[in-house]
Amino acid sequence: MTRSILFVCLGNICRSPTAEAIFRLQANGLGLEIDSAGTSGWHDGHPSDPRASAEAARRGIDMSYIRSRKVVAEDFERFDLIVAMDAQNLRDLRAMQPEGSKARLVKLLDYAPELGLSDVPDPYYEDNFPEVLDMIDLACARLLLTL
Ligand code: 4NP
Repeated sequence: MTRSILFVCLGNICRSPTAEAIFRLQANGLGLEIDSAGTSGWHDGHPSDPRASAEAARRGIDMSYIRSRKVVAEDFERFDLIVAMDAQNLRDLRAMQPEGSKARLVKLLDYAPELGLSDVPDPYYEDNFPEVLDMIDLACARLLLTL
């Protein structure tokens, strides 16, 4: 059974903290452990990108409590499911995963094939925060239905 989920992107300041905040609301009351992290560690300890938090806040979603952190080896034992935002995140996670650890690795948009995309585009560069939030919202809702 999936009881704990970690969302992962590169910086843990745009896509994965957005997924964490949205999924907490969608899964409210189900008792799941939910967190997010980045493969890079470039923004360790930083709050989310203000463009991501502003777009979330416009929709009543609070991201202010989230601080960026890097994925650590223990995450692969702590979490049942690790959800990557794109194919590069998934490759990086596979390279970090300790042999025999329990976490199952998946890509978020595999849960929303109707979007016709395999990766959540990186809004840090593309500045398309509303569109990215919509994608994450839909795919997280679909992911929840599979649990
Ligand atoms: P994220 O976006 O992986 O969705 O958090 C990025 C954030 C920061 C950088 C790249 C992507 N960066 O190059 O600092």
